[in-house]
Amino acid sequence: MTTRRKKIYEGKAKILYEGPEPGTLIQYFKDDATAFNAQKKAVLEGKGVINNRISEYMMTRLNGIGVQNHFIRRLNLREQLIKEVEIIPLEVVVRNIAAGSIATRLGLTEGQPLPRSIIEFYYKDDKLGDPMVSEEHITAFNWAATQEIDDMMAMALRVNDYMCGLFSAVGITLVDFKIEFGRIYEGDFSRVILADEISPDSCRLWDTVTSEKLDKDRFRRDLGGVIESYTEVARRLGIMKEMPTVIQGGVH
Ligand code: TMP
Repeated sequence: MTTRRKKIYEGKAKILYEGPEPGTLIQYFKDDATAFNAQKKAVLEGKGVINNRISEYMMTRLNGIGVQNHFIRRLNLREQLIKEVEIIPLEVVVRNIAAGSIATRLGLTEGQPLPRSIIEFYYKDDKLGDPMVSEEHITAFNWAATQEIDDMMAMALRVNDYMCGLFSAVGITLVDFKIEFGRIYEGDFSRVILADEISPDSCRLWDTVTSEKLDKDRFRRDLGGVIESYTEVARRLGIMKEMPTVIQGGVH
């Protein structure tokens, strides 16, 4: 019999359940994949297990260099215990190389290095298709304060620097990625910490030698081999141990 737990929120790739104690939640990684604001959908067997593991690894490593985040510990193949935060309704994208929407928007060639790392903000609203917004919009509409924007940008650049190095050491180029932040309240004060997930769903990862895509663009662009690529990322990071049976056997 499964335990009844209160579902707090269900997104496209994850579900949040009530946690065992106040201030905690359980984050469950689904196998569902969506793209283009959920116009394209599929179930990719094993994706949730891999992303749970990769996100655990990234958050743990980032915590080690002082980037505070919501991750507490992994509970099982698909679930992790996290700190409850008040999600800031922004997607923070960091780009090193032109790809995806910036290539289209600015007429850049995919693969062209950018003059420097660029941070962009998108307002999280599926009905609107997550429009790009500026700091002016963010402060005017009170989605985040100026200090919070500064904190998010500083953390995003640290995450970028650290992950560029981490991936480069295993022959992967970090093209771009998306992260989200949340507020944690301590008395009258609040602090911004990294939340959500970091996985091949939320990053562009290219093999440094062959430029082969090892991320969700394989799904977005119908390139096939999505799970194989995610598994390859996990394997290169050295976190494959308990995964192969899962992917072959479809453990849920
Ligand atoms: P973009 O080029 O489509 O704007 O995507 C930039 C980065 O953000 C890329 O690594 C994929 C990631 N991303 C998400 O994680 N979720 C999204 O909904 C979108 C549009 C992009």
